[in-house]
Amino acid sequence: MLKLIEFYAPRGLKIVKSEWQYVWDTEGRKYIDCHTQYGSLFLGHRNPRIVNALKEQLDKIYGLYPAFDTEVKERAISLLEKILPRNLEYFYLFNGGAEAVELGLKAVRKITGRKKFISFINAFHGRTMGALSVTWNPRYREGYDPFPWEVKFLPYNKIEAIEKEVDDETAGVILEVIQGEGGLNEASIDFLKAVREACDKHGAKMIVDEVQTGFGRTGYLWAHQHANIEPDVLIAGKSIGGGFPVSLTAFTNEIGGKLKEGDHGSTFGGNPLALRALSAAIETLLEERIVERVVEIGQIFKENLRKVKEEFSDVVREVRGRGLMLGLELRFDPREVIKKLQENNIITLRAGKLVVRFLPPYMITTNDIDSITESLIRVFMEIRREKVKTAVRAE
Ligand SMILES: Cc1ncc(COP(=O)(O)O)c(C=O)c1O
Repeated sequence: MLKLIEFYAPRGLKIVKSEWQYVWDTEGRKYIDCHTQYGSLFLGHRNPRIVNALKEQLDKIYGLYPAFDTEVKERAISLLEKILPRNLEYFYLFNGGAEAVELGLKAVRKITGRKKFISFINAFHGRTMGALSVTWNPRYREGYDPFPWEVKFLPYNKIEAIEKEVDDETAGVILEVIQGEGGLNEASIDFLKAVREACDKHGAKMIVDEVQTGFGRTGYLWAHQHANIEPDVLIAGKSIGGGFPVSLTAFTNEIGGKLKEGDHGSTFGGNPLALRALSAAIETLLEERIVERVVEIGQIFKENLRKVKEEFSDVVREVRGRGLMLGLELRFDPREVIKKLQENNIITLRAGKLVVRFLPPYMITTNDIDSITESLIRVFMEIRREKVKTAVRAE
């Protein structure tokens, strides 16, 4: 029998329906989805604006290479101009985050003529060979060397390490503003500024990977903007297509302006459906003031998580994250908690070794947050009871 390779841990749940922040299983049980395909359904499941845009596009032009001009391409470009940082004047489109990271690294390698990159402990940038070269987790890297260039992994948030290691041979420094897969570690403003300064001093390029943090997820349009810095390369993915596979790499004129025909390409990157989904997603983001909503609802969610932490400090070590990229760092492996939360109708995911991560869509309500909080309390009580039982048995 043909089998799908289980690169993932199966969730043991068959989903038959999805709408906004909810999914339903075969028994009709309703779940609050805080997994959202690793955050890519930030605009919700089947957001009607995205669905209708895609339906319309399906009836017009379904597949066409971006070498051809179309209205849908022009519209996407003019909308992207409204949201991309002003210093970035060139971009290209792909389907997934790793592909966009590949072009970011390749371009910086080519334009600088240098072969050394700096990345960080706990960084995640994807699993294609270039992206994997700057991804830290030894479990993902094992057996795949050699990588295409030298990469040095520095401790995240350590300014001295940046000042010491970025030099005239460094092509670029790549980082996430909040490390998503690595455990929701947040870069300090001083650290981001130090990276910018070190890159400027040595002619290296600063590559900011906002595949997970971008498009309003953290309560900023782009998470790096809270440090008031400008990257040379910005990478986006996940939510920018409203759930449809779209990613992009954006460059300053200095880099993008030097990239020429044949330097890179992608058969499906920038196809008409992706362009239409991207346009609808940007319009939704701007017209429905989603970033502002994330700030508001994210604060309420975080406050609730803080209260849970206070009540269960024997289970929870720390509340992590920003906006609607939140998590609870536990004192033990979170797998059991994630499983029990799912049994309590809340779908979450892991980050790093110890964090239960919540990546809900923007329309999550205070009622949903109350349900999540109640489920967390129920699950932690159960875990406490089980611990007491095990301790008594051990005596
Ligand atoms: C920060 C970051 N970069 C890159 C990627 C890779 O994206 P994809 O899985 O779409 O290739 C991810 C995926 O989780 C990510 O979180």
